[in-house]
This record gives sequence, structure tokens and C-alpha cells, in this order.
Amino acid sequence: MAKTKTVFFCKECGYETSKWLGQCPGCRQWNTLVEEKVSSPAGGRRSGSPLPRQKMTSLFDVSMEEEDRISTGIPEMDHVLGGGIVRGSLILLGGDPGIGKSTLLLQVCRNLANAGRKVLYISGEESLKQIRLRAERLGGFEKEVTLLCETDIGAEAEAIRSAMPDMVVIDSVQTMSSTEITSAAGSVSQVREVTSVLMQLAKTEGMAIFIVGHVTKEGVVAGPRTLEHMVDTVLFFEGEQNAVYRVLRGVKNRFGSTNEIGVFEMREKGLAEVANPSQIMLDGRPLDAAGSVVACSMEGTRPLLIEIQALVSPTSFNMPRRTAVGIDFNRVNLLLAVLEKRAGLNLSDCDAYVNLAGGLRLLEPAMDLGIMCAVISSYRDLPVHPGTVIFGEVGLTGEIRGVSHADQRLSEAVKMGFGRCIIPRTNVEGLPPRLTSQIEVCGVSSIREVMSVL
Ligand code: TYD
Ligand code: MG
Repeated sequence: MAKTKTVFFCKECGYETSKWLGQCPGCRQWNTLVEEKVSSPAGGRRSGSPLPRQKMTSLFDVSMEEEDRISTGIPEMDHVLGGGIVRGSLILLGGDPGIGKSTLLLQVCRNLANAGRKVLYISGEESLKQIRLRAERLGGFEKEVTLLCETDIGAEAEAIRSAMPDMVVIDSVQTMSSTEITSAAGSVSQVREVTSVLMQLAKTEGMAIFIVGHVTKEGVVAGPRTLEHMVDTVLFFEGEQNAVYRVLRGVKNRFGSTNEIGVFEMREKGLAEVANPSQIMLDGRPLDAAGSVVACSMEGTRPLLIEIQALVSPTSFNMPRRTAVGIDFNRVNLLLAVLEKRAGLNLSDCDAYVNLAGGLRLLEPAMDLGIMCAVISSYRDLPVHPGTVIFGEVGLTGEIRGVSHADQRLSEAVKMGFGRCIIPRTNVEGLPPRLTSQIEVCGVSSIREVMSVL
């Protein structure tokens, strides 16, 4: 007989407790505990058949073959995954509703099927007809893609075991549920149970499984962050709903480096790769406007040039207004405070708005100097020379600190036709001559120096 009990889960981190608390002891967030009913079959393990016993092995006997990677047929996506899909891996694709997750995965299914692989697309959100319509729109389907509309994870597991595909897509985890748990689909315990069933399938049958997960307002994969711990790889698909550019970002990757990004454009016929993201991000930039600065951020192993815009104007409020789009709000406040204290700019009487162009969100500290220069430029109403790239980290005493990969950043700037750069002095020495001959390098070590070179 099944016993039902009530437990409380944290929506943020998945912490489990038997009584309600105002603050989650796991992640210290307030008001995140929700009540769920969980039933467990009397006696014994929760999910079905017992796990097969595994034998012990010597470290040296483990075979060392290259992990078997399957190309998605989309080079940008392969890049983010670290070289393709690894067999037996569980990959979570998170993102806002309507951003293009289903479209991206259907394109991957198409490419794999056309390359002769067996794929299974399981949807709990859309009807067969809707999927067919999207496929018509994308075009190019030559070989068979198997579809299944189902929301019961038990039935899905059976279907997967009988079809034995190379890749499975589960769209989305929030619509799937297990009959062994009484709480509604999308609740913390359901999402966890569904994921653990899928993980077992991926590991024992050696197939790659993609799970789609919607993201909540706070920017975590709906409800359980625990999901992120359970899977091998977490990808985020982000971008402004009404902008055409989308960024696929690797947040966690057991089989490759994290923080790699791939840039896509949503077209009439699906998602297309953007070959030169820096070009796109700088397109349409005002060339002689105060407050516009080009900075360089490393996204994984790739440098990306991007425009930062600042608008500083006298405030008409008691409390000056501050906003930051695409960059960390607290970081902007901190930089404004440093400017006020160390450079004598009277910013407490000014509203300040700082934007990253293109709808991206970049959090690298190397953007600090760019943000600061954009603010100074707008404050003084003096444009920065449009052929200048700026990067560097700023400390609380107003010192400019060195950043990693200065040579790669400068190569990108040279490639994009920039002739001048303002960078931390400590980074200047290590630069190869082939770079310094192509771009005028201006090393700075304090805010005062920055003010004078600007
Ligand atoms: P979708 O993949 O359904 O988003 P998600 O699964 O993340 O919720 O994407 C839906 C959006 O993409 C929708 O607004 C229509 C748009 N779209 C295109 O612009 N071109 C296309 O070829 C396709 C298939 C969708
Ligand atoms: Mg979808």
C-alpha cells in the first residue's frame, strides 16, 4: 500500500523539510518553501525495479577511448557542448518560454536523423500536428524522426527502451509526471523524479537525452535548481523576446569547458548561426556619440566585442535613478561610487542609465573599465574616439587591474579594424610585438590616468 506524506520543498534549491519555514535553511531565501504531497510505495525503493549490482573495477582497466561524440550538425551548438553530444549524457536546455528551445532541438533532431541516427522527440506541450507544422516551417527533413505525445514518464521510459534511439528530446520536463508521486506535474518532487528516471535511462542505455526546462522569473530553471546538479550539462538559451539574436550558453558541462556561447538568429525558417558575433553586436553603433564605448568580454574561449552605452544626466528626483541592462546592477553602482570618490565626479546629483547593446547579458569584470569610460564620456559630454577598444578590471581604490587573455582580446579588436586600445598597464608587457605594431596600446593603472587619456 502506498503511504502519502506531506513535505515542503524549496523552489530555489530543492531543500526538503517536513515543516514549513519562512527562510530556507539550504539557500537562505525567504518564502520559497512550497507544500507537496509525496507518496512512496510501502517498503522498499521508490522507483520500480532494483538497480543492477555493479562490479568493482581497477582504475587502469577502464577503457580510455575518446568519448563518442555525435555532431549536432550545428557547429555553434557543438562548440557550446564541447565538441558534440556525448553518448549517455543528460543535457538540460533552459530558457524563457517562446525563446526557441523546441525549434533548436527539432533542428538537432532533423540533422541527426538525416545523418542516419535514430531520434525520438517526446512532447508534452504540443500536439503531433503542431510539431509537424514546425517541421514544415524548418524544412529539410529527409529521414524519419519518431514523435510521441505523452506526459507519463513511465510510459515514456517504456517507449524509449523499446525504440532504443541515439538521442531523445523531452519537451518539457515541467509537463511530465510520474504516477508514483501524487503532486502535480511541474512541482519540485515531480521534476526531480522525472529527471532521475531519465538519468538512469541515459546512463544504463547509453543514449543522449535532452530535457527542456522553462525558466522562472528569477532566472533559474523552473523550481528546482537541484535539476542542475543532477544533469551532466546545462545550457541556457537567452535573449530578448523581441530581438532576433539568441545566445546559447553553457552553464555547466561535465564534458567540456563552461561559459562557451553560441550566437543564433531567429529567422523565418528556424535558427541560423551567426558567424561573427562581434560584427553583429557593433552594427549600427553611433560613431561620435558621448557615452558609447566598445568593450571586450571573454565568453568561454572566445573574445566578444560589444558596445556599452551610458547616459548620465542631472536628476530631478531626491534619489537619483540608476538602471543597468545586460550588466550587473550592483557592479554599476559600485563603479559609480568609485568614480565619485576617486575621480571627483559629482554623480550623486545625476541619474545614470547603463545598457549593453544587443540584448546580451555579460558579467565579466573586464567590462568594468568600459562601463566606467562610458559613464565618464557621458558625464563630460565628450565622445571617446570610435576606433578605441577598452577593457580592464577596476578595484575599489580606483586601481586598474590586469585581466586574462589580453592578447586574444586585442587580436579580435585588430580583426574588427580597431586602431587604439585602453588596457591595464600590467597587461601591456606580455603583449607580442605582432599585436603592438597593429594597434596603438595605451596602458593605464589608475582612474586619474584613464581620465587624462580619454
Ligand atoms: P519555440 O521553439 O516554440 O520556443 P520554446 O520552445 O522555447 O517555447 O519558438 C517559438 C518562437 O519562435 C515563436 O515566437 C515563433 C518563432 N519562430 C520563428 O521565428 N521562426 C521559425 O522558423 C520557428 C519555427 C519559430
Ligand atoms: Mg517549446
